Amino acid sequence: MRILSGIQPTGIMHLGNYLGAVRRWKDMQTKHECLFPVVDLHALTVPQNPKELRKATLNKVMELIASGLDPERCTLFVQSHVKEHTELAWILQTIAPLGELERMTQYKEKGKTQKSGVNAGLLTYPALMASDILLYQTDAVPVGKDQVQHLEFTRTMARKFNSTFGQTFKEPAALVSSEKEGAKIMSLVDPKKKMSKSDPNPKGRVSPFEDPEHIRRNIMGATTDAGKEIRYSPAKKPGVSNLLVLHSLMSGESIASIEKRFKGKGYAPFKRELAELAVSFSEPLRKKKRELERREAYIQELLKRGARKARSLAEPTIEEVRERVGLLS
Ligand code: TYM
Repeated sequence: MRILSGIQPTGIMHLGNYLGAVRRWKDMQTKHECLFPVVDLHALTVPQNPKELRKATLNKVMELIASGLDPERCTLFVQSHVKEHTELAWILQTIAPLGELERMTQYKEKGKTQKSGVNAGLLTYPALMASDILLYQTDAVPVGKDQVQHLEFTRTMARKFNSTFGQTFKEPAALVSSEKEGAKIMSLVDPKKKMSKSDPNPKGRVSPFEDPEHIRRNIMGATTDAGKEIRYSPAKKPGVSNLLVLHSLMSGESIASIEKRFKGKGYAPFKRELAELAVSFSEPLRKKKRELERREAYIQELLKRGARKARSLAEPTIEEVRERVGLLS
């Protein structure tokens, strides 16, 4: 199978990204042909500081390698280094129904929080994401639950292009795990919202790349629910349920077993254990990241190699697309 999944460069990688997506990518790279772009063009849909964006892109590559992606086993690259993404995105935009783009949850939500006017890129973002995927004849896309709607849109685009111009694209499958397996890690402050890089309140997220004090503080300060029972019930106890999922995913212990151990003990000891678990779980990632920070030339070199490989895989499809839509060769 060919697998592709992307991550935006801006903001620190949090446990939602890591447990919901990146950790699964790491397992997949040994079994499948994998492509993992850092999607810097997507980041431009909201205002960015150019210097900071370049730094964030390199930083995200380091976080990915520190998380276990092995550039010898997968193709790690920067989206904007492969210009075919933008070319295909434009062509897909010309067949993308405006109504569907306007209904996308992410567009509606980001549109609401943005201070000044929303740009056209925020609206057409799903066409760029569809191009990332379709360009490589991807079989499956491992993502968190928040990206499922974009994946549906990608499949719609593939079907529409194929029925208009003839069979060209594969229809990719979304690989989403269950919520207990991390498909949707919630905010530590407001457990009804997903943990998000763009949340203005940094206390809502926790990252394996932050220093231990930070990790401890955010976990100890996490919102819990009324009562003091440690019980998994996302509807009645969303805060505690989210912490139980985090614990189980990092420790490998079942939720039922954690509930049993903490029966009648209240929230504080549970949170303390979770905080220490998160610190020790993320220590190897932080250590690896520190090492990589000293090897920028190596990172630049592997990104060049990744882009060359990605381009060679993209070329046959973009050639076929050009021919199908009637562009002069
Ligand atoms: P991004 O950068 O927001 O997130 C990267 C991955 O992390 C997952 N994720 C979560 N999973 C569980 N719980 C959470 N709280 C949580 N927050 C984020 C996301 O689902 C994602 O898998 N549009 C995409 C990037 C993208 C892409 C692609 C993905 C661009 N092109 C092609 C797949 C294929 C995004 O903004 O992800």
